[in-house]
Amino acid sequence: MGEALEGLKRNIMCGELREEHIGNTYTVMGWVQRKRNLGGLIFVDLRDRTGILQVVFGEEIDNNAFIKADEVKSEYCIAVTGTLVKRESINENMPTGYVELQGKEIKILSESETPPIYIKEGLDAAESIRIKYRYLDLRRPDMQKTFIIRHKASKAIRDFLDEKGFMEIETPMLTKSTPEGARDYLVPSRNYPGMFYALPQSPQLFKQLLMVSGFDRYFQIVKCFRDEDLRANRQPEFTQVDIELSFVEQDDVIKLNEELIAYVFKKVLDVDVKTPFKRLPYKEAMDRYGSDKPDTRFEMELKNISEEASACDFKVFSDALANGGSVRAITLKGGASMGRKDIDRLGEFVKTYKAKGLAWIALKEDGIKSPISKFLSDEQINSIIRKTEAETGDIVLIVADKDAVVFQALGALRLELAKKYNLIKEDKQYNFLWVTEFPLLEYDEEEGRYFAAHHPFTAPMDEDIELLGTAPEKVRAKAYDMVLNGEELGGGSIRIHNSELQEKMFEVLGFTKESAWERFGFLLEAFKFGPPPHGGLAFGFDRMVMFLAGIDNIKDVIAFPKNQNAFCYLTEAPNIVDDKQLKELGLDIINVSKN
Ligand code: AMO
Ligand code: AMP
Repeated sequence: MGEALEGLKRNIMCGELREEHIGNTYTVMGWVQRKRNLGGLIFVDLRDRTGILQVVFGEEIDNNAFIKADEVKSEYCIAVTGTLVKRESINENMPTGYVELQGKEIKILSESETPPIYIKEGLDAAESIRIKYRYLDLRRPDMQKTFIIRHKASKAIRDFLDEKGFMEIETPMLTKSTPEGARDYLVPSRNYPGMFYALPQSPQLFKQLLMVSGFDRYFQIVKCFRDEDLRANRQPEFTQVDIELSFVEQDDVIKLNEELIAYVFKKVLDVDVKTPFKRLPYKEAMDRYGSDKPDTRFEMELKNISEEASACDFKVFSDALANGGSVRAITLKGGASMGRKDIDRLGEFVKTYKAKGLAWIALKEDGIKSPISKFLSDEQINSIIRKTEAETGDIVLIVADKDAVVFQALGALRLELAKKYNLIKEDKQYNFLWVTEFPLLEYDEEEGRYFAAHHPFTAPMDEDIELLGTAPEKVRAKAYDMVLNGEELGGGSIRIHNSELQEKMFEVLGFTKESAWERFGFLLEAFKFGPPPHGGLAFGFDRMVMFLAGIDNIKDVIAFPKNQNAFCYLTEAPNIVDDKQLKELGLDIINVSKN
């Protein structure tokens, strides 16, 4: 059964009704949260996206409505017309808790089966069920709140950028591979059998072309696709706030985006974000935090004890130093009381980050305990303690290896300890910062060549251009990441707009002229026609919403997400297609096993 509206109009939302509305007649529409029949009275909690309203039906109020109200069950979709009155038993926990609607007319717009998940705040059902029945999951008030925040954030971004003279321009979804470094999602072409479009990993090259076109200030809130291993903050299709502007330098892009973030946090959360943000050069971020996206809500900084360690007889230390590596440490305040098993667990933990072990010095009340004390003189131990600023009661945790391994292991250990020992205060802290001066290139030992750390169009810092030919690994880029509480919220760079420099860059990256033109010819061609100096940035919009909503899983801020294996339980995508479709595309499935 499902009655038609027959002209009936809703004139207020459930969550909006307050004492000031008492005495008026209203029509509300929504879903039955629950129904209680207390004999002469039936109470229905009616829910729409603004909140829950108590509706009461009674023989005395209207007998027909009372009889019909008894038919409704949870999640029936109904319309009720009635008079708003003061509630007898007030519920202070509900915004509408002072009033109730006396139902005089009810329409059952549609019935509902018993839903497979509870429609209530803070549900913890299996992910597969939640995504399969996502439309029900999304009825839950906390999910609705999240998507209201998401909408407010995108509206605030559009308002801000519009005000600053930016235009939103759409770029193609069926395109050629863009150089962001993840695996592409491919779409086979019917017109060109055997050929494929790639879904964009970002609109990078198109936004640069729009600068050549003179649009000057572009933005887009846009879907991007990356076939990469998924984590709590990654989805295969995700949304970027993509921005590019002309006639600017790094400071201009940084300032604009600080203002944008401050505007969004004010509009959505009424939080004042302090600008300008701190800036940390990449090298300093690695030295102090072992990470290019440091969480600065707590200290526990890394200390380089290579010099102190160089004098001792411990082979692990001397080998690491002889191989060009380093010895570094972090100090856990009050950690000396940690049991042996706990310390061993930390040792196992750093091994998952490729460290070979974890040396430690515990400063106990009754003296120093350390598995490496046999290799170190008292003076050597004391010099390490001085350098690490450790005090009685603390433990110093040490890794020796190549720098990359030391940073990775201690950076991760720092975060792990902060989590385990609750070093991050729960009050809402938003520690924004910029990491700047990233290396332009990364050397891949397996392939024996350099790769662009950001992408091949990122400009080197002016003072480092000379080094491109002689020491490419030392060249720093005009690239910057915005980091919030240890997460990369966005990243971008100033681009190369000088063709000689671009050619030099391709040379360093090991492209021949032909292979560079084959991949990026359309951009290189465009750059023959007066490209303006330009640069930009892209935010991970889903990540931004995670912060705004205080949610730690990206799936909860995406209406229809995929699971960890990029599968959609709701539509069951990906899936097989008809033989006819395959034939049209000139495709033959020869191996259906994974990988
Ligand atoms: P980048 O690759 O750093 O830069 O991406 C920008 C931001 O997008 C977010 N992000 C993701 N979010 C969710 N799931 C994913 N799989 C995912 N991958 C990235 C991150 C990241 O900071 N074209 C350049 C930007 C530029 O140079 O202007 C780019 O795409 O928050
Ligand atoms: P060993 O003498 O090999 O048992 O090592 C003594 C201590 O040094 C143990 O606590 C190991 O975990 C630690 N250790 C081993 N390799 C490293 C390393 N690369 N960096 C730091 N500590 C290490």
